[in-house]
Order: sequence, then structure tokens, then C-alpha cells
Amino acid sequence: MNRTFQALWIDKPAVGSDTRHSDTSPLLPLKLRSLTVDELPEGEVLVEVHYSCVNYKDALAAMPDGQVVRQYPIIPGIDLSGVVISSSDPRYVPGDSVLATGYELGVAHYGGLSEYARVKGDWLVPLPQGLSLREAMIYGTAGFTAALSLHRLEENGAEPKRGPVLVTGATGGVGSVAVALLAAKGYSVTASTGKAEERDYLRQLGAQDVISREQVYPDPIKPLAKTRWQAAVDPVGGKALSAILSQLQPNGSVAVSGLTGGSEWQATVLPFILRGINLLGIDSVYCPSSTRKQIWQRLAADLKPSSLEAIVDREISLEEVPAALERILRGGMRGRVIVRLK
Ligand SMILES: NC(=O)c1ccc[n+]([C@@H]2O[C@H](COP(=O)([O-])OP(=O)(O)OC[C@H]3O[C@@H](n4cnc5c(N)ncnc54)[C@H](OP(=O)(O)O)[C@@H]3O)[C@@H](O)[C@H]2O)c1
Repeated sequence: MNRTFQALWIDKPAVGSDTRHSDTSPLLPLKLRSLTVDELPEGEVLVEVHYSCVNYKDALAAMPDGQVVRQYPIIPGIDLSGVVISSSDPRYVPGDSVLATGYELGVAHYGGLSEYARVKGDWLVPLPQGLSLREAMIYGTAGFTAALSLHRLEENGAEPKRGPVLVTGATGGVGSVAVALLAAKGYSVTASTGKAEERDYLRQLGAQDVISREQVYPDPIKPLAKTRWQAAVDPVGGKALSAILSQLQPNGSVAVSGLTGGSEWQATVLPFILRGINLLGIDSVYCPSSTRKQIWQRLAADLKPSSLEAIVDREISLEEVPAALERILRGGMRGRVIVRLK
């Protein structure tokens, strides 16, 4: 079989040339390209992609200095869900519904913003019962990261009765899903956002309180401040993380996944040695397969919120992806943007 299909294509212009997607765009040139299945990279499983989505990392992949893509040209897209067309991996047969997030997808291996993808069998997760291909991409890497954060917080003692949980970057992908998952599990959630106009959205997802970014980090940030949170899900980093560390209750934990507020932060050892707090790093990309499958099972069952559909900001086509990536870079995301390919 060597069918022709459409994919989003990013090629990096030669060094010294300053080509952009458009005159006003911060992105590298992105275009729709026809490819044949023979042009896809090696892998055991050929998947017809039904849905993908856009994440912050996809925007970085399309930036001249994004530093996530190992080699251009690339088909971006760190996530996909679809149906197996052919497989030399005995674990998968044609017709199986599968999903994939992370690993090298869309950064070192052609990714999910494509009508077909060929991937390693080890990267795939069988679609859990209770989840549709579309719902899998409402979650995508962002939702998986939110769930992994909650899972790690629970492993470290978080439980609803211990007090409020802070979610930073709450209107973004990781943040929105974290608010919804925590609220559905009975936690009292405080959502921090830079978008005052999205209070109602965050309350609809289940946030009990909505506060501004500045309300998280008073100036100056003290090494030990009044305790406010039993735990926090932090995809923002930077100043927010500095403040959270000083505000966690004794034995509380923060799950750190991102850097939209900056990659550097300041801290002293005091909250660690006087309050026994835990700093939990979250890596969704190379999360081990057994944990990965367990988290996806939970997303299809006990963690699945009734507000999942409310997280969808819009469903778009491949042609509309560049505009969505520009919006991410402006910090303008609200919830999740999913890409329909079939
Ligand atoms: N570790 C992992 O495995 C993993 C997985 C997924 C994502 N990530 C990382 O997590 C972060 C969030 O990803 P995402 O997909 O949720 O992105 P997103 O949908 O673009 O959301 C990011 C949110 O961060 C907030 N924000 C943006 N600029 C900010 C700034 N300058 N200061 C403070 N807050 C700011 C905004 O929320 P508000 O306006 O509501 O404040 C924005 O909506 C990214 O850094 C991403 O690379 C890591």
C-alpha cells in the first residue's frame, strides 16, 4: 500500500535567511504537504490518525529557536489517536484503536498532525475502554500530564480532606484538565490565572476559588510564608514555583511540569527541612509504559470528569493549526484545541 495523504510540514530555512510562516508570524514556514506512506519513518505500526491536538510543545517545534526538534523537516504533533492499518508488532492488529503521546513524536520522528503515522509499537497505548478516540485527544499530552501530576500528589499523601490544592496556568491545557480532574475527585481547587475574564470557565470546571497570578506570588517572596495549599499542580514554574514552595503545608507536595512563567526559580532549603515538603518532577514524554497505561486507564475511569467536553475550546482542521500555535505562544489558550483528521 502506498497511498497519498496530507500532513503538516515544517522545514527550517537555511541559516541566515529569516523566512517566517507569514510577515507577522513568529513561526517557521508551515504548510500542508502531500506524502506517501513510503515516506514515513520506520516503525512497526501504521496508524490512520483520526484525531490529534495542539500543545505548547508543538508551538515550540514550529519556532526558529524552539529547541525541541532534533532535525527538520518534521511533521509536528506530539499526540495522536487512531486506528491500526498494519502492524508487524504482535501486540497490535489492523482495526485496533490506539493512542500515542510523547516519546519522539513530532520532535525527532514524524508526528500526529498527519493523516497517517508510522510509530514504534512501544509508543502505543491501546485505547482504554470508556474513552473515545476524540476524548483521548481532548486529554492529549496536557491531560496525561495533569493526571500524572494528580497521581504523584496522591502517592505523596494528597487527599481531599487535607485542604486546598492550587493549580497554576489554570486556563491552559495542563491547568484546565488538572482543575477538572481534581474537582471531580472531591478536592477543593484554587485556580490561578492571568485571564480574569475566564473566571466562569474555571468555575464551570469545578474551581472553588479563582485568583490572579499576582495573588500567588506576593512581592517579596519569603523563604517561609503562611501555609496556603496542601498541594499544587504547577505547569508555570518561575516565580509561581518559588512562591508555592514557601506556601505548602507541612508534608505538602508540588508537581512541577512546565515553564510558561520561566525555567528559573528561587528557593531556600527551609521549606524542605522545616516543613518536609516534596518537589515532584513530572515527565510525560518518557513516562514508563506501565505507569503510562495505568494513568490512561484512570483517565477513562475514576479520573474522567463530567466536564471533559467543557475543556474543548475548539475542534479544527490541519489548515487551522498554524493560527492555533500562534495563539499558544501569546499565552492565549483556553482549554484544549483538538484537530480532526478523519
Ligand atoms: N513535563 C511534561 O511532561 C509536560 C507535559 C505537557 C506540558 N508541559 C509544559 O507545561 C506547560 C503548559 O503546557 P500547556 O500545554 O498547558 O500550555 P498552554 O495550553 O499554552 O497553557 C499555558 C498557560 O500558562 C499560563 N501562562 C502563559 N504565559 C505565562 C506567563 N508568562 N506567566 C505565567 N503564566 C503563563 C496561561 O494560563 P493562565 O492565563 O490561566 O495563567 C496559559 O494558558 C508548558 O511549559 C509545557 O511545555 C510539560
